Amino acid sequence: MKHELCKIADIPRAGTIVVPFFGREVHVYRSEDTIKAAANVCLHFGGPLECKEGRLVCPWHNAAFDMTTGERTEGPAPKGSRLMFLSTRIEGDDLFYVWGE
Ligand code: FES
Repeated sequence: MKHELCKIADIPRAGTIVVPFFGREVHVYRSEDTIKAAANVCLHFGGPLECKEGRLVCPWHNAAFDMTTGERTEGPAPKGSRLMFLSTRIEGDDLFYVWGE
């Protein structure tokens, strides 16, 4: 399966772009030399995440996640939990979610 997430040119140099994903949302962003796509879902209780000062932070109870590793760094999300990253592939000018290829 392959599903277009966004144009590469639309991914900001800093921060994230939030794109729809089958009725949910994904944060797409640049991290070091790669592009990451993380589900916009807090690992505590499913709240939305906001990009703040280089982290993804949940406004509901202040859990925070490292944007590079996905690891929970603060808050009530369980220790050892991490963001849900999507498998992606760049083709031409576009970023795709890919599964089972
Ligand atoms: S739902 Fe995100 S910190 Fe509670």
